[in-house]
Amino acid sequence: MDDLRQKYLEAVAAATDEATLEDLRVAAVGKKGEISLKMRELGKMTPEERQVAGPALNALKDEVNSALAAKKEALGDAALDARLSEEWLDVTLPARGRPEGTIHPVSQVTEEVIAIFADMGFSVAEGPQIENDFYNFDALNIPPHHPARQEFDTFYMHRDEGDNRPPHVLRTHTSPVQIRAMEKTGAPIRVIAPGRVYRSDYDQTHTPMFHQIEGMAIGEDISMANLKWVLEEFFAAFFEIDGIKTRFRASHFPFTEPSAEVDIQCSWVDGQLRIGEGDGWMEVLGSGMMHPKVLQAGGVDPEKYQGFAFGMGIDRIAMLKYGIPDLRAFFDSDLRWLRHYGFSALDVPTLARGLSK
Ligand code: PHE
Repeated sequence: MDDLRQKYLEAVAAATDEATLEDLRVAAVGKKGEISLKMRELGKMTPEERQVAGPALNALKDEVNSALAAKKEALGDAALDARLSEEWLDVTLPARGRPEGTIHPVSQVTEEVIAIFADMGFSVAEGPQIENDFYNFDALNIPPHHPARQEFDTFYMHRDEGDNRPPHVLRTHTSPVQIRAMEKTGAPIRVIAPGRVYRSDYDQTHTPMFHQIEGMAIGEDISMANLKWVLEEFFAAFFEIDGIKTRFRASHFPFTEPSAEVDIQCSWVDGQLRIGEGDGWMEVLGSGMMHPKVLQAGGVDPEKYQGFAFGMGIDRIAMLKYGIPDLRAFFDSDLRWLRHYGFSALDVPTLARGLSK
């Protein structure tokens, strides 16, 4: 028995990996291991012999088992030590770079526009992009079959045959929010409504989805003069050009009377657009005094109240402010071009400077 003891304790001490330890365990105390076989022989012994051999064998088995366990733990610690000394992190290495995101110019410009109008007491209103044709057309004094409906290149939502609900459209302008805002808060009211609008049109200055900002002010004595002042204040702040010249051209919209399209002064120098100088004009919005029928459709009494409204292309004024030649660049292309145009996230709101002058 002493031979067995020496044999296994030495072998365990010499083992250098867990597989060897497992082989030793099977050979010594496994089902057919040497020590196990010896224990089976106990039955054939005389009681006196057994009294000596039994406890000795049990002690030997325990001793081998604990030697195996101790060695296994020691091997594990050694392996961990080895890994710890080989693998290490250089925490002084520079971190892997992450591409920096920037706010989309349309979002940035929208924020700028909102802040300027907020300073003039306008609050923000919203409406759905999938609009029914009552809000998009009828309530705005564009009855069915009116030729103005065609001017809008409308996207109509699909209707199954036999589905007789009123047609829904992708709103062609933000003007339906005029009606929704009047319904919600009545008069007097001063709101702007930024958002996406859709028309089936695509070229250098038109994309099927674009952004507008609607403005509306209703009161007992709101006039065209207020419209002109508000817009001139806005352009001066937005383009950061004091006294920027605007031109109001008589126009026609079914929902305003009188109506005006508004241009701002600009020039082209070497293919570069310059705002606020020269003798060219760039159209930026449609506007006018709200038609009495529109006030009525919104539940506002046209005998008591009057108001102005305007609708401006956000993408268009962003192009002008930042000198971006092709509207499609906003939505089609890799936004790395933004850097080229000097866009940074809303860092110093340019409008705050414009207004404090
Ligand atoms: N809704 C008009 C358009 O999209 C713009 C507009 C708005 C004109 C409000 C007058 C008053 O062209």
